[in-house]
Amino acid sequence: MDFSIKTFDAKNTIATTKTGCIVVGIFENKKLSAAAKALDNQGEISAALKSGDISGKPGSTLLLRNLTGVAAERVLLIGLGNDDGLSEKDFSSAVNATIRALSSLGAQEAIIALPLESVKGRDASWAAQTCVLTTYQQAYRSDHLKSTKDTTKINLKKIALAWPAAASAKDKQRLTQSIALANGVNLTKELGDLPANICTPSYLASAAKKLAKEYKLGIEVLDRKQLETLKMGSFLSVTNGSDQPPKFIVLKHMGGKAKDAPVVLVGKGITFDTGGISLKPGASMDEMKYDMCGAASVLGTFRAIAEMNLKLNVIGVIAACENMPSGRATKPGDIVTSMSGLTIEVLNTDAEGRLVLCDALTYVERFKPAAVIDIATLTGACIVALGNHNSGLFTRDDAAHDKLANELLVAGKSTSDTAWRMPIEDAYQEQLKSNFADLANIGTPGGGSVTAACFLERFTKKYTWAHLDIAGTAWKSGAAKGATGRPVPLLTTFLINRAN
Ligand code: BES
Ligand code: MN
Ligand code: ZN
Repeated sequence: MDFSIKTFDAKNTIATTKTGCIVVGIFENKKLSAAAKALDNQGEISAALKSGDISGKPGSTLLLRNLTGVAAERVLLIGLGNDDGLSEKDFSSAVNATIRALSSLGAQEAIIALPLESVKGRDASWAAQTCVLTTYQQAYRSDHLKSTKDTTKINLKKIALAWPAAASAKDKQRLTQSIALANGVNLTKELGDLPANICTPSYLASAAKKLAKEYKLGIEVLDRKQLETLKMGSFLSVTNGSDQPPKFIVLKHMGGKAKDAPVVLVGKGITFDTGGISLKPGASMDEMKYDMCGAASVLGTFRAIAEMNLKLNVIGVIAACENMPSGRATKPGDIVTSMSGLTIEVLNTDAEGRLVLCDALTYVERFKPAAVIDIATLTGACIVALGNHNSGLFTRDDAAHDKLANELLVAGKSTSDTAWRMPIEDAYQEQLKSNFADLANIGTPGGGSVTAACFLERFTKKYTWAHLDIAGTAWKSGAAKGATGRPVPLLTTFLINRAN
C-alpha cells in the first residue's frame, strides 16, 4: 500500500480531483464536515443524510456514485458521531469502517478526506498514523501455510491523506515513520504466528541476520559454547531438555552519536514453552508458540527504527531457546548459577522466562545503557491482573525510574498500545527466599506477575530498567487467534520520542 499526503487549495479542489473514491466525514446531527460540504454542490449528500440512509454514528458508511460536480467516481460517507470534538475512539471506529469499505470496492486509489486535525488532544499526524496502522492491520493475512488462500481481494493500491494545511517536512517524516512502524508490527505478527516447528531459536537468529543485512545493522549470534564461556548457567538450564540449540542474539542500530549511551531492548524468546518437567496442562498449549513474542517485538521494533533511520543508539538482545521436558531437562529443586553469580533454586521449570532473562540482563551491563527495557510474555498472573488491554509495566520507584515509566506510558497511550504501572517493592522480594540458594525462581502464592518482576529486578541494579509483561497483550485467543504486534507501537514511539 502506498500512502501520501495531499493538500487542496483554491486551484486543486477536492471536487475537481480525479480518483476512485473520496472519503468524507458526516455527523450524527446530520451536519457535514468541511470536505463533505465541498462535494455537496447539488445537495445530494445532504439529501442522503436527510433520508436516513446513514446514521452518522461512528463507523456508519454510505457509498454514493457520480455526484454532480465531483470528479471522483465515488464518494464514501463515514459517520463520525458527535460534532463537538472527535474522540480518539470514534475516529478509530471511523477509520476502521473506512478501510473495510474501501477494501471491498473496485477502486485502486482513494483519498481520505476525514478531518485529521479534529481529534481531541491529537494532531493530523496522529490521525494519519491511525489510518496507516489500520490499513496494515486489515491487510494482514495468516494464510501462508494454508493451501487455499484467503481470496478476498483488496484492489486498493494508493491512499492519499487530505492534509488540513500545507504539509511540513515534519508531517511527511511522521507519515514515513508510521509506515515503518506498520512494517515492524507486521514482522512481529508474522514471527509470532509461525508455529514452533518452524520458528525455532535458529529461525529467530536467521530472521535477525536477514534484518541486519537489509538495514546494515550490527549483529552477533552467540551459541551454546559461547554462552557456557559467559557462564550463563541460568539461561542454559532452560535449554537442557531441548534438541534445538539455544541462540543469544545481539542486534545494534547505532543511529545516534558514537558516544551516546544506548537504549537496550531485551526480549524473551522461548520458541515453545511446554513448562518443562513442571509440564503445562494440555488445553491451549499450542498458544505457547507465542512465548517468543518479546523477542519478536524486539525484531519488529528494529525493523521499524532501521527503516525510519532513527537517530538513536539502540541495542537489541534476544535470549532464544525451547523449554522442553526430557531425561536431560532441569528438574524442580535443581540449583543453577546465573551469569551474575547469584544462585537460583528452580522450584518450577515453567517459570523459565525469568531464568533466560536474568542472564541477558546481566550480559547487557557491558553496554553501559541509558536504559534497559525487557519485554516478555512472562506470567499468566499478569493476564489475571490486567486482562488483555494493558501490558504490565514494572520499574523501581525512584525518580529516574518514574521518568522512564512515564515515557513508556505516554508512548503507549499515543499509539493505543497501552501499559499500566505495577509495583516493585522489597515486601514482595521476601516471597522469593530459598532455603538452599540465593533466591528461588517462583514466589509464595499471590502477586505472581510482581514476584516475577522482582526476580528480574535483582539482576538490574547497574542501570535504569523497566520490564513489560506482555502475556495478555501480545496475542489474542479464541476465534481471532493470532499475534497482535504489541508492544511494537509503544516501543517504537518511545524510541522516536527519545531521539527527538
Ligand atoms: N510463558 C508463561 C507465561 C504465560 C502463561 C504467558 C499463559 C501467556 C499465557 C511463563 O513461562 C509461565 O509459564 N509462567 C508461569 C509462572 C509460574 C510457574 C510461577 C505461569 O504464569 O503460570
Ligand atoms: Mn513457562
Ligand atoms: Zn514462558
